[in-house]
Amino acid sequence: MNKSFALPLAAALALTGVAGTAIGDGHADKALQSAISARKAQMQLVGFNTGLLGAMAKGEVPFDSAVATAAASNLAAVAKLDRSILWLEGSVQGTVEGTRAKAEIWSDPAGFDKAAVAMEDAATTMITAAGTDLPALQAQMKNLGTTCSTCHKAYRGPKN
Ligand code: HEC
Repeated sequence: MNKSFALPLAAALALTGVAGTAIGDGHADKALQSAISARKAQMQLVGFNTGLLGAMAKGEVPFDSAVATAAASNLAAVAKLDRSILWLEGSVQGTVEGTRAKAEIWSDPAGFDKAAVAMEDAATTMITAAGTDLPALQAQMKNLGTTCSTCHKAYRGPKN
């Protein structure tokens, strides 16, 4: 490799296939849009797997330990994605289209990180709970759900 990119934005441009070209506004905007799409896709996967677990916790679908374990494992894996290339500075609600990310994500990075790690930990604990029984899954579902709402309240803006 004869090119090295030190900045997250440059790294993101490399990922979106526009490395080596001048970084104009259009390209920067494209990089922000790509990162927004990617983190929303991550949240969709988080939501899908949490939805399966939640439906079992509520008794809407029968408890199935194998399915619950698969959902919890997927959730734990997808929750752990490296955030540095997904939450690019400037990809904030009000500045860029199609995002509800609040400015607090960047003004309070430690708080955002803590909220994200809480989800990762709750998802990992859910793997054990899902392999145990329905009451264990139900108890851990409360902890997991709290990590979603805590972060959304602090760092997700109103509907666009
Ligand atoms: C560390 C903070 C954080 C945690 C924890 C978190 N979210 Fe999110 N979530 C966000 C932010 C910020 C957005 C808005 C992203 C955007 O619009 O760019 C979002 C968006 C979403 C979306 C909408 C995605 C889309 O396509 O627009 C869903 C669904 C979602 N979250 C589900 C969940 C669930 C379920 C959990 C818990 C298991 C969870 N989130 C935990 C921060 C978080």
